[in-house]
Amino acid sequence: MRADAGPAAAAVLRLEGRDVGTAAADLLHTVIASTPRPVIGVATGGSPSPLYRELAARGGDYRAVTWFALDEYLGLPAGHPQSYAEVLRRELIDPLGLDPRTVHLPDPHSADPHDAAARYEQRIADAGGVDLQILGIGRNGHLAFNEPGAALDSRTRVETLTEDTRQANRRFFPTLEEVPTRCITQGLGTILSARRLLLLAQGAAKAEALHRALTGPVSADCPASVLQLHGDVTVLADAEAAALLP
Ligand code: GLP
Repeated sequence: MRADAGPAAAAVLRLEGRDVGTAAADLLHTVIASTPRPVIGVATGGSPSPLYRELAARGGDYRAVTWFALDEYLGLPAGHPQSYAEVLRRELIDPLGLDPRTVHLPDPHSADPHDAAARYEQRIADAGGVDLQILGIGRNGHLAFNEPGAALDSRTRVETLTEDTRQANRRFFPTLEEVPTRCITQGLGTILSARRLLLLAQGAAKAEALHRALTGPVSADCPASVLQLHGDVTVLADAEAAALLP
């Protein structure tokens, strides 16, 4: 979608749930095949799971690829099964046989998490920037952990999670109290710096957020509305998530 062309220029594909993974894997393989040293940004959460399952089923040579996570919780002990480092190990590194050294996340155990955030931003830049950024959308319109109110040009930084996001992620933890309250997240400006964006959205709970993101005003109230400022966005949504789109 182009800033001057408006939301109508979004490449929105309505698909069945399983096909979201297939179509996303097609796009990812196209980018990898056409880029000498591809850099892929990866999301966690439920939305990209069909993509990662499809990639594992297809196999492929990912030795040239460098991967960067969108975000990581602060406050979890090293090796916690719901840390995004562990989620990516289970869903991406092990199934695809990746070299773990090619998969980067912010360091949540640094004595200075603000410095860790700045260093992570620099590592992405040093790798040449992200060729394809995979994204999910929060039901409150968040992108990565950029909650409503986040600056549209924000860079990687320490953030506080909203109660809505903690409630949404409660399903991954035994109790709500165990859901972290802080994180390191790529900023909206960091995400917009990726050359190509791929948003995956499934289920009725995402319908309103997706509608606001693609057809509402570009505003910090709906962080995902920054997608309208990017020139190359593909949205793969199932029928439920796309239900409110024109
Ligand atoms: C999470 C993550 C995001 C993710 C979003 C949607 O909290 N930090 O990166 O895209 O919220 O999550 P899900 O795909 O599980 O609905």
